[in-house]
Amino acid sequence: MPGFRRWSKSKFERNPESSFKLLAAVLVITLYLIIKEFQHPTVRVRDAPAFGAQIQHTRWNGTGKAQETRAKHVRDAMKYTFWKYRENAWGYDDILPVSGGNSTSRNGWGAFIVDSASTLALMGLWDELAHSVEHILAIDFTEAQDLVDPFETTIRYLGGLLSIVELYDVGLIPEDVLHDEARDLILEHAVTLAQKLAPAYDTPTGMPWPRVDFDTEQGEPDASFVFDDDPNKQEYDHPVVGPARTGSSILENRVLTRLTGNDVYARNSTLAWAPLVWSKWTTPWAGMVDAPVDIMTGAPVGRSRHWDGGHDSFYEYLLKVTLLAPPSDPHLDVYKKRFLKSAYSLRRHLSSRSAPAPDHLMQHLFIGRQDDKQYENQMGHLACFASGTILLASKFYDQPYLRTFALALLEGCHHTYTSTTTKIGPETWSWVPKFGYDEPLFFPESERQREEALASGFWSTDSQYKGRPEYVESLFYAWRITGEQRYREWAWEAFEAMEKHCKAPFGYAQLADVYDLGDSNWVDMQESYWAAETLKYLWLTFEDVEVASLDSWVFSTEGHPFRMIR
Ligand SMILES: *[C@@H]1O[C@H](CO)[C@@H](O)[C@H](O)[C@H]1NC(C)=O
Ligand SMILES: *[C@@H]1O[C@H](CO)[C@@H](O)[C@H](O)[C@H]1NC(C)=O
Ligand SMILES: *[C@@H]1O[C@H](CO)[C@@H](O)[C@H](O)[C@H]1NC(C)=O
Repeated sequence: MPGFRRWSKSKFERNPESSFKLLAAVLVITLYLIIKEFQHPTVRVRDAPAFGAQIQHTRWNGTGKAQETRAKHVRDAMKYTFWKYRENAWGYDDILPVSGGNSTSRNGWGAFIVDSASTLALMGLWDELAHSVEHILAIDFTEAQDLVDPFETTIRYLGGLLSIVELYDVGLIPEDVLHDEARDLILEHAVTLAQKLAPAYDTPTGMPWPRVDFDTEQGEPDASFVFDDDPNKQEYDHPVVGPARTGSSILENRVLTRLTGNDVYARNSTLAWAPLVWSKWTTPWAGMVDAPVDIMTGAPVGRSRHWDGGHDSFYEYLLKVTLLAPPSDPHLDVYKKRFLKSAYSLRRHLSSRSAPAPDHLMQHLFIGRQDDKQYENQMGHLACFASGTILLASKFYDQPYLRTFALALLEGCHHTYTSTTTKIGPETWSWVPKFGYDEPLFFPESERQREEALASGFWSTDSQYKGRPEYVESLFYAWRITGEQRYREWAWEAFEAMEKHCKAPFGYAQLADVYDLGDSNWVDMQESYWAAETLKYLWLTFEDVEVASLDSWVFSTEGHPFRMIR
C-alpha cells in the first residue's frame, strides 16, 4: 500500500491537470447520483455493511468460546436420535421413539432425513450426513402418499434441501460427503418439488390452497373444510388459511430463485402473502392480520389476531426476508414497517403481566390472543418464538423498546419451564392478567389448576411437551445477541431436563404431562423438528459464537440456515 500511495501522489504532483480532471469527474458523478436518488429513491432498510449484518453481540472478551462438554452432550443426543432412526425406521418420515415403530406423517419421503440434514452438517456428523445424502438423492418427489401440505412441505423438505446446498456452497460440507454433481441433483430435487407444489398457488389471489394433490396436480382444501352438498356443514364459502400458511414460503422460495435464476418462485411466494402485507381490509390493530383468510378473495373471514400457532411465522418472515434479501429489493421497507407495526401492536394489545399469586409474588410477561372483542389469556409454547424474533428485530432495526419486550417475554417462557416438576414448559397455559383486561376468558377450573396458579402465577391448560424448539430457539438468539451468560445456563437446564425425561429406547419421546414424574409419561411421537430445530439451537448455543453466526445466516422457521447475501 505505501508503494501505491507514493506512486499516485507523485503522479498527481507531476501532472496537476490530471488531478483536476479527476476532481471534476468525481463532482459530475456525485451530482448524477444525487439527481438519480431524487428520481428513484433507493430503499434503505438500514445502512447495512456490504456483506452480512451486525447482529451478534461484539464485546465477548473471550466468553463466546464453545462450552465443549455441553456441546458434546447435545451432539451425542443428535447421534442417538439419528442412529436409532437409522436402525429402526430408515426412510420412513418418523420413528416412534418408545416402541421403535414408524409413521408416515409427511407424504413418505423420509421427512426426518431431509429435515435433520442441516443439523448433521453444522455438527460435522459426516458419516451420518453421507447416509442422509444417499437417501435424499434417491427420493422421488413426483409421487406422494396422501395429499401434500404445501406449508409443511416447504418449510421441512424444500428448506431442508436448499439449506444443504447453501452449506455446501460455502465450503462447509467436505467433498467426500457431497460433491458438485450431488449438490446439483439436490437442487434439481428442490426444483422438482417446487414444481409439484406449484398448483398450490393457482387461486385468484395467489394465496395457497391448504393441500395439493400430486396425482391430479390440483389444489385442494384440507379436511376441516367440508365440500358437502349441505352448505350448513361448511363454515366458510371457500377454503381459508391462517397467516402462517400463506406467509411462510418467501425465504425458501427466494433462496430457490437465487440458486436457479428462475424468478417464478420468489414471485409466487410474494403474491401468496401480498393480500396480507398490502391488505386492503381494515383491521383494528396496526400491522396485525385478522384471520382466517379466504384464499379466493383474500378477505379476513374471522377476527382472530395473535402471534401464536397458525399466525406466528408470517410475522417471523416479514422480518427475516429483510435480513435475507439484497437491500435493492423494492418491498423491504414495506415488510419492515409492517413487522414493526405488528410487533408494537403485539406489545400494546396482547402482552399481559400475570397478577402476583399468593405463593409467587413475581409477575411474568405473557402474550395472549384476541378473538373479535374477547381477550384470551392463553399462550402456547409456539409463541415463545416471538422473543427470539423480536430480539433479532430490535438489533437489526435498532429498537430498544422491542429489546426490553423480547427479553421480558423470554423470562416468561423460562418461568413456565422452571415451574414444572420436569423443568420443561407446557404446551399451553393461562394466567390472571394483572390489569387491562376486565373479563379474561380463562380461569383455573380444576383443583390442580388452582394449585398451579397459586404456586407459580400461571396454570397449564395443556400440559404436554411436544419436543418443541421455540423456547431454546429464543435462548439461542438471546445468547448470541446479548452475550449474557444466563441464557446459556437456561439452555443447559432445559437440555438436562429433556435428556432426563424424554430420552426413550428409540429416540426422544414427547411428554404427556410436564408435571408428571411417573413412568408412563412418554408419548410415542418424535417430530422431525426435534432434530431440525430443538437439538440444533441447543448445540449452537454451546458452540463458539462464530459457528453459524447470525451476522451471516438467516434461520428459516424450521431452523434451516440460509446465506444472508447483502
Ligand atoms: C475481559 O476479561 C479479562 C480476563 O478474563 C478481565 O480481566 C477483564 O476485566 C475483562 N474485561 C471486560 C471489559 O469485561
Ligand atoms: C413400519 O411399521 C409397520 C407397521 O406400522 C411395520 O409393518 C413395518 O415392519 C415397520 N418397518 C420397520 C422397518 O420397522
Ligand atoms: C406460479 O403461480 C401461478 C399462478 O399464479 C401458477 O399457475 C404456477 O404454476 C406457479 N408456479 C410455481 C413454480 O409455483
